[in-house]
Amino acid sequence: MTGGEEQTQTWHHGIVASWWAEFNVGGPEIEYFQKFIEDDGQPALDVACGTGRLLVPYLRAGLDVDGCDISSDMLALCRERAEAEGLSPNLFAQAMHELELPRRYRTIVVCGGFGLGGNREQSFESLERIYEHLEPGGLLLLDNEAPYADAGLWRHWLKEERHALPKPWRELGEGDRRQASDGAEYELRSRIVELDPLAQCVTLEMRADMWRNGEHVAEEHVLRMSLYFTHELAAMLERAGFTDVSLTGDYTDEEPNSDTEFVVFRARKPRTRPPAAGDRKHRDR
Ligand SMILES: C[S@@+](CC[C@H](N)C(=O)[O-])C[C@H]1O[C@@H](n2cnc3c(N)ncnc32)[C@H](O)[C@@H]1O
Repeated sequence: MTGGEEQTQTWHHGIVASWWAEFNVGGPEIEYFQKFIEDDGQPALDVACGTGRLLVPYLRAGLDVDGCDISSDMLALCRERAEAEGLSPNLFAQAMHELELPRRYRTIVVCGGFGLGGNREQSFESLERIYEHLEPGGLLLLDNEAPYADAGLWRHWLKEERHALPKPWRELGEGDRRQASDGAEYELRSRIVELDPLAQCVTLEMRADMWRNGEHVAEEHVLRMSLYFTHELAAMLERAGFTDVSLTGDYTDEEPNSDTEFVVFRARKPRTRPPAAGDRKHRDR
């Protein structure tokens, strides 16, 4: 376990990691982000790469992409998947707010990972660490689910709903149950434990069960998520030093609208360093 894993709370471990590797393999994000990497965007870094849903197809396409993730279980499954195709990615087990890698990148992608695990301070530190890891002129692509996109979660921003938390567990057998390619059965059940609308932070719990060859394994995990509205995230990116911040919706080239569920942020690290505070004072006088 890395230092980051100790300080943060995420549920992408053990059975949940295996679930990701088995069932979360497609999606419009893969092609959407790929074109930015192909278009003069290498080398690239996939931050919170998970089990390689994006990374493995990119490596298969011959792109120079590294990956990092807080969960060593997710990374182990990513490596297994890549090696099965004869690929050997550079993978790093690190929390994004502590990112410290030997390379600098022309593109950094964060897909489904921003705000997970930590608090608001760590989210901002993540943007600063990502900025540091971009080459001058490099591009950050980061997606963010609008806090109101998930109706089940959104209604818990209201006092009446919030005070009824934590939600009771669903019974075993009432969760999302699926059969994996090796015959194992998986079932996931999650519940909302706490939502703080002032801190814009939610805590969820997951019960994960797996049956394989007559053996039953049960785990419980916690996920903390910081939730961000579109304009505040744009302002955070600017505060971290990014310029040319632009937005698109739901992995298309269209601008987001009020029905957009996932806003994709594009932000550049300037080619030249911004003037130091002392220089600015001199110029302002
Ligand atoms: C929803 S999954 C997305 C995985 C992958 N990007 C994809 O789109 O398939 C979120 C991933 O973020 C990772 N993660 C969560 N919090 C993190 C953090 N603070 N730093 C780095 N990775 C984190 C998890 O371990 C998990 O692999």
